[in-house]
Amino acid sequence: MITENSLDQLLSVVSIEQVVGDYVTLKKAGARYTGLCPFHDEKTPSFSVTPSMGIFKCFGCNKGGNAIQFVREIENITFAEAARQLADRYGVELIEVGNKMDEDQYQELQRKREGLQVVLDYAQGFFKQQLNDTEDGALALSYFHERGYTQETRQYWGLGYSPASWDALVKDAESKGFKPERLQEAGLVKQRDKGGWYDMYRGRVIFPLKSSSGKMVGFAGRKMDKTENSPKYINSPETELYKKSDFLYGLFEAKQGIGKEDNAYLVEGYTDVITLWQAGIRNAVASSGTALTPGQIRLIRKFSNNITVLYDGDAAGIRASLRGIDLLLGEGLNVNVVALPEGEDPDSLCKSMGGEAFGNYLKEKAQNFIFFKAQLLLSTSASDPIKKSEAVKDVLQSVALIQDSIKRSVLTRELSNICAVDESILIQELGALLRKNLRDNQASEQMLKEASTYVVAPQPVIPEDAFSEFHQEGALFRLLLLFGDRVMPSHGQTVFQYAIESIMGESSSVAEFKEIIHSPLFRNIWQVWESQQSDAAEAMPLSWPSQTAFIHHSDSAISAWAADVLSRDYVLSEEFEKNYIYIKKESDDVQIQMGVDSVVAHLKRIKIEKEIQATLERLLEAQGEEQELLMEYLTQLNETKLEISKALGAAVSGSGFGAQPKSTQI
Ligand code: UTP
Ligand code: MN
Repeated sequence: MITENSLDQLLSVVSIEQVVGDYVTLKKAGARYTGLCPFHDEKTPSFSVTPSMGIFKCFGCNKGGNAIQFVREIENITFAEAARQLADRYGVELIEVGNKMDEDQYQELQRKREGLQVVLDYAQGFFKQQLNDTEDGALALSYFHERGYTQETRQYWGLGYSPASWDALVKDAESKGFKPERLQEAGLVKQRDKGGWYDMYRGRVIFPLKSSSGKMVGFAGRKMDKTENSPKYINSPETELYKKSDFLYGLFEAKQGIGKEDNAYLVEGYTDVITLWQAGIRNAVASSGTALTPGQIRLIRKFSNNITVLYDGDAAGIRASLRGIDLLLGEGLNVNVVALPEGEDPDSLCKSMGGEAFGNYLKEKAQNFIFFKAQLLLSTSASDPIKKSEAVKDVLQSVALIQDSIKRSVLTRELSNICAVDESILIQELGALLRKNLRDNQASEQMLKEASTYVVAPQPVIPEDAFSEFHQEGALFRLLLLFGDRVMPSHGQTVFQYAIESIMGESSSVAEFKEIIHSPLFRNIWQVWESQQSDAAEAMPLSWPSQTAFIHHSDSAISAWAADVLSRDYVLSEEFEKNYIYIKKESDDVQIQMGVDSVVAHLKRIKIEKEIQATLERLLEAQGEEQELLMEYLTQLNETKLEISKALGAAVSGSGFGAQPKSTQI
């Protein structure tokens, strides 16, 4: 564990523009630098670096944080490794002792990982040897032979066999000094109710699963017959080494090929990957039959921005996976699709066509995902105008996820042909979708401008759920970070003290906070408040931690959040007669007070409304005296709500802002 102090010290000497500058060409723009984001594909810069605060932020993909986090993200290493790397470069000595607890936990985890690794490596050797050197293994050899796998292929993919006996692995492992408990942790054996152990993979052929760096992380065992009523595959459970959502089968073997071809083929099954490899197609990975996850997408993106999804020929499966592809588009990948003929999968078709022909077939048939989706959806809806317009909208939603505006416009033109809809109508609709996405993602003004060129008159940007708890909590935390230590004129308290005491003072409902980032953040703020409470004998005003404390925070979610807020010139504070008021960073105290008052009132209102709802529900079930008590309580609640609403009215109109024009004040 690296101490907080030495991290602080490190960050105070690191020059973030220098660190980022190694990877990104930065241009000076006032007090900031801007450039093309290294974490996603873009043509116009939405990435900014603010040296005075030591932070970076991308408004396109939302990554942000301090210099250590930048190095961690870009080098894909751990936080501690990134810190050490920077410390070396800047000649800072990191102190690594700190919390004994954490240190012990870390050691423990490391020991567990290493132990697991040893067990997996042993089992891999055992399965291989069973396949190649035993009588029983002959059956499995002939299975692989029938599937057309050569000796070289078996060797390269480390294929193996788990004997049909109940305890071949357990016995062999014990004879070599492995405890069955360790094998159980790796998902290799199970304990009988009566005691004793049995092999999980018995009678199955084994596909070892390797991490992208080539370490053994688990196994998949396929049964050899079709009849038996058992699952086709048994897969390793999730362990310290195997996380299904961050795993792609074949990536270690394919990553070079993916880079060379600048394209990854995404298939479903283990056998698809292996068959393609044997046929000379060396850039295929498998999602192991599940929907794609963001973690898997990130893995592919390290090696190429182009991905071709190969679909087995069944329409239902294809429709179900369209959403997953949107995820790829949203991550800035270029997606092509090949739909294989009915009843075929890459394994079967590659075998029947031969590798070279299949390789050409894939190149020929690869079709842009957007056009593919349009054709697929229109094929069943073209005769029904309402269904057709829904289909077109659905396709445009995918287009709106593409960040590159030139690509979007090329696609839109072609789509207008495919769908037989006027291009100008598509452009208008797309503009509306883009603005909606941007509202949802709070994108940069640059991107907003880009989106607004799609329509004649740009619309003001008003989130539909501006009054929601989510938005109000976000606004509160922003106000705290920016103005926590300002004194509010009419309350005589700091923004921090006033806000915390008026919302949380009576009940410490920490867990109620909505957004994930907000909870640890709030806990953090709450702790600061409490620690000051205990020695507040002299009634000192409570002081707010410095902004640096948040930027340097060891919880990277908190530090990224701080970077985000501080990189914006305006902080969203309040909805004002359907128009947003933005408080500028240089705002005066009256303005800030107004913002705080209104957020506090909104949060109180939300809390009361929840309480009213809960009380109403209880009332439905209640009887007699309880019913009366509840009615009385409800009246009280409603009175309080009325008061809050009045206060809200005052917060909105009472501070000299009543005469603001209807447009936003950016
Ligand atoms: P498939 O049924 O297409 O299997 O499932 P496959 O890998 O192509 O195998 P063959 O060619 O029929 O022998 C695709 C993937 O879904 C996962 C596996 O990752 C498989 O490779 N799967 C399938 C399971 O995990 N468990 C199952 O029972 C079935
Ligand atoms: Mn298959």
